[in-house]
Amino acid sequence: MSKAFYITTAIDYVNGEPHLGHAYEKVITDVIARAHRSLGEQVFFLTGLDEHGQKVQQAAQAEGKDPQTYCDQLAVIWQRVATTLNLSHDDFVRTTQPRHLAVVQAVLAKMQAEGHLYKAEYSGFYSAKEETFLTDRDRLPDGTFDAAWGQVIALAEENYYFKTKPHQDWLVAHIQAHPEFVQPDYRRNEVLGFLKNNTLEDLCITRPASRLAWGIPLPFDKDFVTYVWFDALLNYASVPAAMGDPTAVAALGDYLDPAFRPSAAGHALWPADIHVIGKDIIKFHAIYWPIFLKALSLPLPKQILAHGFWQKDGQKISKSLGNVIDPVAVIQEWGVDAFRFYVTRELDIGADGNWTDASFQARYQAELANGLGNLVNRSLSMLKRYRGGALPPKSTDLKEDAEKATASTVAQLRAHQLQAALLSIWGLVNRANQYIDQTAPFKLAKDPNQSQRLDQVLYGLVETCRILAVLLWPFLPSSSTRIYAQLGLQKAPDQLAEATWGTLNPGHQIGEPSALFPRKDLAARNP
Ligand code: MSP
Repeated sequence: MSKAFYITTAIDYVNGEPHLGHAYEKVITDVIARAHRSLGEQVFFLTGLDEHGQKVQQAAQAEGKDPQTYCDQLAVIWQRVATTLNLSHDDFVRTTQPRHLAVVQAVLAKMQAEGHLYKAEYSGFYSAKEETFLTDRDRLPDGTFDAAWGQVIALAEENYYFKTKPHQDWLVAHIQAHPEFVQPDYRRNEVLGFLKNNTLEDLCITRPASRLAWGIPLPFDKDFVTYVWFDALLNYASVPAAMGDPTAVAALGDYLDPAFRPSAAGHALWPADIHVIGKDIIKFHAIYWPIFLKALSLPLPKQILAHGFWQKDGQKISKSLGNVIDPVAVIQEWGVDAFRFYVTRELDIGADGNWTDASFQARYQAELANGLGNLVNRSLSMLKRYRGGALPPKSTDLKEDAEKATASTVAQLRAHQLQAALLSIWGLVNRANQYIDQTAPFKLAKDPNQSQRLDQVLYGLVETCRILAVLLWPFLPSSSTRIYAQLGLQKAPDQLAEATWGTLNPGHQIGEPSALFPRKDLAARNP
């Protein structure tokens, strides 16, 4: 059985509700997952929640709830948002699930047995806010610590450490030899720069259970729980292991509790093809995660793809500033595809972005309502009006334009250039709208001598709408399925192979046209 294309998102902390940044990451990952499915590949798309650690424990306490109840309640909300975003994930991992816990404990047992861990006392500084130890290197020139660390306390305690020293050289060599491993390139250069200029400190991978109860206990020392990042990163491997992925299962061997050993070999998933993450967590994914995997004798993921950060009106998005964008509210007002379109169209993966309501609304009106929506509505309505909704004989008007747009969209989807792919698709939308203006079918319809010409124009337009639906499916799955339904096609346009000119047959009867993106009175909204 060939390996599935395995793609993941970061798993979100469950200490609040989802905002634009979380939703953006999930949408771009979904577009890539759908694109690979549409290219005919088998795909496994994993997303989920990071439920352990001090932040969650404190957030639960603040609401007077025990952490598990707190997580269970929020997990319902986060999973509902995944559905609202129309994500096509195959599994939703929660780090409090027994299947995950069993794998984390097996990993700890294996690492301890194979000499990757040691126990030592640390005395120094600790940022509770970031759940991390600080060294003198983290001090500002005036000797203080940056306010971003929150309150920094002096601390002396024993913990378990992971030996990172043996790993630095091979990791640098790996990143140098595999330019695709960290993308975009500028992020790869940052990681290489960091590794060349710093010697990695051994990583503290536990917290005393007396200080932090909300974590996974070490199987060989119940006085300690795992560090939240160690726990969280392992989600990418724990789900494949639980599903019987042969590589992950073999690496855990007898360390995995027999109760959690899959009874049959599952589909091959590991290594992950892409971990999609935000730029703030690259160090964990491009440095610590590969090192952990190497220690476990597991192959490395093929790519860490780091996206940029969104701001709102030029400011950091934060609860205290009150400028958090709730994706669900936007979707309720504008529709899920308007949200998915805006975030993928506005930003190339990697770049930072700035959400303004005005730019969201302007793109909706120009590109969705007046662009795509208008094209589909005019084309289908004219076919209804002039030909009773039946396709005329095949023609090749617009064929070349559609084939060019298809070729570039497919190449861009393969390269995960989502913004560029949308530009190619809108090249065809604009060309077809312009073609209506140039050929003026409403004039042709008045002249009986032009009947054959009108046939050619109508076939070209309607077939172009069909091809657009196929190209758009990864981005706008619900609208593209609606276009297919309006074309009288009762399936999803989910295979790029169907973007072949001439697929609609003469005589085929289309369904009822209806507005895909109703125009909004923007002047009334923004007086
Ligand atoms: N739980 C960790 C990730 C563990 S992955 C093994 C975490 N959670 S988070 O909730 O803080 O962030 C989840 C993802 O959302 C991260 O990839 C982060 O970069 C992304 N974003 C959070 N705010 C964002 C923006 N304002 N803009 C874009 N993405 C942002 O980190």
